[in-house]
Amino acid sequence: MPPGPAVRAALTWELADGAVAVVTFDLQNESVNKISRTVKDDVLATLAALEGDRAVQAVAFFSGKRDNFIAGADIEEFVRLTTAAEAERLSADGQELLERVARFPKPIAVGIHGACLGGGLEFALACHYRVASDHAKTQLGLPEVQLGILPGAGGCQRLPRLIGARAALDIILAGKVEPAQKAFRVGIVDELVHPAILRDVTLDAARRLAGGWRPRRKRPGGVVAWLLDGNPLGRRVVFRAARKQVLRQTRGHYPAPLAALEAVEHGLRHGIRAGLKREAQLFAQLAVSDVSRKLVQIFFATTALKKDFGIPNPPAPGEVRRLGVVGAGFMGSGIAGTAIAQAGVDVRMKDADLPRVAKGLAAAREILDDRLKRRRITKYEHARLVALLSGGADYAGFGGAELVIEAVFEDLAVKQQVLREVEETTRPGLVFASNTSTIPIHRIAEVAARPERVIGMHFFSPVARMPLLEVIPSARTSPGVVSTAVAFGRRMGKTAIVVKDSPGFWINRILTPYMNEAGYLLAEGVAIEELDGLMAEWGFPVGPITLLDEVGMDVAEKVAGVMHAAFGERLAPAPAFAAMVKSGRLGRKAGKGFYKYAGGKKAAVDAGVYDLIGVHPNGGTRPAEIIQRLVLMMLNEAARAVAEGIVRTPRDGDIGAIFGFGFPPFRGGPLRHADDLGAARIVGELERLAERYGPRFAPSEALRDRAADGGKFYP
Ligand code: 3HC
Repeated sequence: MPPGPAVRAALTWELADGAVAVVTFDLQNESVNKISRTVKDDVLATLAALEGDRAVQAVAFFSGKRDNFIAGADIEEFVRLTTAAEAERLSADGQELLERVARFPKPIAVGIHGACLGGGLEFALACHYRVASDHAKTQLGLPEVQLGILPGAGGCQRLPRLIGARAALDIILAGKVEPAQKAFRVGIVDELVHPAILRDVTLDAARRLAGGWRPRRKRPGGVVAWLLDGNPLGRRVVFRAARKQVLRQTRGHYPAPLAALEAVEHGLRHGIRAGLKREAQLFAQLAVSDVSRKLVQIFFATTALKKDFGIPNPPAPGEVRRLGVVGAGFMGSGIAGTAIAQAGVDVRMKDADLPRVAKGLAAAREILDDRLKRRRITKYEHARLVALLSGGADYAGFGGAELVIEAVFEDLAVKQQVLREVEETTRPGLVFASNTSTIPIHRIAEVAARPERVIGMHFFSPVARMPLLEVIPSARTSPGVVSTAVAFGRRMGKTAIVVKDSPGFWINRILTPYMNEAGYLLAEGVAIEELDGLMAEWGFPVGPITLLDEVGMDVAEKVAGVMHAAFGERLAPAPAFAAMVKSGRLGRKAGKGFYKYAGGKKAAVDAGVYDLIGVHPNGGTRPAEIIQRLVLMMLNEAARAVAEGIVRTPRDGDIGAIFGFGFPPFRGGPLRHADDLGAARIVGELERLAERYGPRFAPSEALRDRAADGGKFYP
C-alpha cells in the first residue's frame, strides 16, 4: 500500500493497470523538487515498499510539479556543511541512494518534464529508461561547477558511461544546461515526446522493460567517438585537451572543473566504485571551499532578484506586447533583437534615415538567426519571430506601443528631443525608457509632458549576451512604471537591479575610476598587454584596455566627461582617451584602437598608440601595485556609492558588477571583496597611494567609518 499522508515527505505512488507503479515526486510547500536528507529517506522507504509489493513489476517516475522535474540537491542543505567529512558523507549517501536505484530489481523509467538538473539528472541517469518532453521548460544538465562543486551523486561516473567521456566532459566542465532536444541528440534521453503523451510513453516503456525488453543504445559520434572515447589511449588525448582548456579558461581560480575532470578520469580508469569514492572526496573539498560559498551566494542573490521589483509594494507590471525602439545603432538593434527573441514582442524600430534603419533591422535579425543556427529555436519559430520586426524613418507604428526604449546618441539635448517626439505620437499610458549609460533620468525628463512615465533602462553591450539591466526611476517616476520596466527586462532574460538616479548610476560610477586609472597607468609607461594580462589573471574576462576597445573610445570619452563634470577631479579622465578619439582610434568597431583588428578579430597591440600618447612601456610600475591601484579605485568608489544609496543593497551592487562587466565571480563582487580585505587594510593602502599619486586615492568616508568600527558591507 502507498504510505499514508502522515509519513510521506514528498513521494506518493499508486498502481496503474495492475503492474506499473506510478511514483509522483511533489515536495510539499516548495515551488521546485529538490533532494534533501528527508527526501532521500522517503525515496528509500518508497523503494522498499515497491520492492516488497509483488503486484509491482515496474516503476514509472514523474514529478508532480507543473514545470519542474528535480532542481537538484538542496543547495541550502550543503551550504550548512561545515567540514569536509560531513560533505563527503552527504555525497556518499546520495551515491548509495542512486546505487540502490540503479540496482533496483524492477525497472524504473522516468518521464522528465521541466528542469532536470544536478542531482535530479543524476537520479534520472541511475534509472533504467529516460523519456523527456520536448517542451521549452524541459532542460537537462549538471550545473554543479557553476556553484563551485561537482556532480557528487555519481554524475561524474554515469554520464561518461552513457554518452562517452568527450560529450560528458563538455557538459560537466562547463556546468551546461541543455534543452531536451540536445539531451536527446547526445544520448542522455532515450525518447523525446510531446508533453501530452509523456506519461503514456513512460508507462509503456516501464511495462516493456518489465517484459524483458532492453533498449539498444548506440553512442552518437561514429568512428571518431570510438577512437577518442572507446579506448584508454584515445581517452588520454581527450583528458589532456580538456585539462588544457579548463586551465586556460579558469586561470586556476575555479577548482571545480579540474576536480570534476579528475573524478571522471579516475572512474574510467579504476572502475565505478573507485570513481565514486574519489568523486565524494573531491565534492567534499569543494563544498566547503570559499569559492563555492561565493558562487552559491551569487545563485541565491540572483534567485532573490527574480522576484524583487526594487521598490516597496510594487504594483502589478503593465503588459507589454509592442515595443518601439528609437535609434537603430548597435545598442538599439541589440535591444530590438533580444526583445523579440526572448519576449516575443512586436518591435518597431526608428532611426533618422532608411539606410540606418535597414542596418539596424539586419543586426537585430542576426540575433534571431544566431538562435536558429544554435538550434535554440526551430525554423518555424524563426520565421514567426522575424515577422515581428519592422522599422521606418518616422514614428509610424509607434502608436500602439506600450513601451518605447530610446538608444540614441548619449547627449542630453538629443535624448530630450526624442522624448518630445515620442510623447507626441504615442498613447498617454506609454512607458518611455532611456538606455542612457550616464545621464540622470530626471534631466532627460525635464522636457516630458508625463515625467512619471519616464525611466532609465540601461542595457549592456552586446545586449543579447550581457545579463544585466540597470533600471533607473527618477524621483517622479511612478511605481507602476518601475514594475513594468523590471518585468520587461526579466522577460528579456536580464537580471534587473533598480538603482538611484545619479550620474553613471551604479555600473559606470564604479567602472569610470577603474578605467581612468588604467589610462593613468598607461601614461606612466605600463604596457597595454601588461595591464590587460594582469587584470585577466586577477579574474576579469578581459582587461581594462580591451574593454575600452570593446565599448568604443568615443562612448568611453563621453561617459568619462559626464562623470568628471558631475564628481570633479577625483574622476578626471586620463588625457590619453581624448587623443585616441581625435585620431579615430575608436576601438573594435572602427577596426583600430589600442589593438589592431584583422577581419573583425582582435590582433596585436598597435604600437603606434604609444607614439600617440607620448610614452613607451618602461616596466617601471610593479605588477602588484598596478592591480592594487585599479582594484582599490573601484572599491573606494563603490563604498562611496553605497553610502549614497546608489544601490539598495550590497547584494545588488555585487550582482551588478559581476553581471554588468564581469567582476570576478569567485571574489563575490566588489563589496564582498572589500569585506574580505577588511576596511582598515584598504584605508591604509589607499592612504599610501594618495600620498604617492594624489588625492584621487583618498579613502572615502564609508571606508573610514568601517575601518574605525570594524563594520562590513554584509552584516
Ligand atoms: N536547492 C535549493 N533551492 C533551490 C534549488 C536547489 N537546487 N533550485 C531552486 N531552488 C529554490 C530557489 O532558491 C527558489 O527559492 P525561493 O522561492 O525560496 O526564493 C525556488 O527554488 C524557485 O527557484 P527559481 O526562482 O530559480 O525558479 P525558476 O523557475 O526561475 O528556476 C530552476 C528553476 C531552473 C530549477 C533554478 O532554480 C535553478 O537553476 N536552480 C538551481 C539548479 C542547480 O544548480 N542544481 C544543482 C544543485 S547542486 C547538486 O545537485 C549537487 C549534486 O550533484 C550532489
